Amino acid sequence: MLAAGGLSSGAHLAAFLTLGAAGAVVGTRFLVAEESLYSDVQKRAVIAAKSGSAVRSYVFDELRNTTGWPAGVDGRGLAMPAVAAVESGADITQIKKEVAEGTKRGDPHSVVTWAGTGVGQLSRLQPAKVRAHHPRSLYGSELTARRTRISYESYMKSLWPI
Ligand SMILES: Cc1cc2nc3c(=O)[nH]c(=O)nc-3n(C[C@H](O)[C@H](O)[C@H](O)COP(=O)(O)O)c2cc1C
Repeated sequence: MLAAGGLSSGAHLAAFLTLGAAGAVVGTRFLVAEESLYSDVQKRAVIAAKSGSAVRSYVFDELRNTTGWPAGVDGRGLAMPAVAAVESGADITQIKKEVAEGTKRGDPHSVVTWAGTGVGQLSRLQPAKVRAHHPRSLYGSELTARRTRISYESYMKSLWPI
């Protein structure tokens, strides 16, 4: 069993491993890795985002022309004026034009930025290998973790600080 969704710190990972999960799926955290293909504007938007800034909407896909998902499948991204406008009935063609222009200007409020619920806890850019390598190297410590959850959490926190 893998834990997934909103996990953004070593403490989250440690908690789920301690509860018996075999591992964790981490998505949003890696958007702010140096290796991530997100633009600098998107990375900065993710880092600046607060908890609750990531909202579910069908409009993100509409703005990106990536529709065609089965009924009921939306996506979570950083709240932006264009999404709110379309949801309130604004003309999508006009809004798409404004979003395209804003994206060109590098306006962080005009670019679609997919992000999960843990976005408020991401505060800096880091290489992905720091994120991915350390937790893997800790599997040997799992027995210690089962004996004493607190020490495992502190250990994870020291390697994978928020
Ligand atoms: C850039 C990005 C694109 C994603 N695209 C999809 C997708 O197309 N379909 C899907 O089911 N989940 C998608 N996800 C959600 C990931 O599956 C989800 O992030 C994962 O469960 C980990 O959660 P977390 O991002 O809160 O860490 C995407 C996530 C990100 C960050």
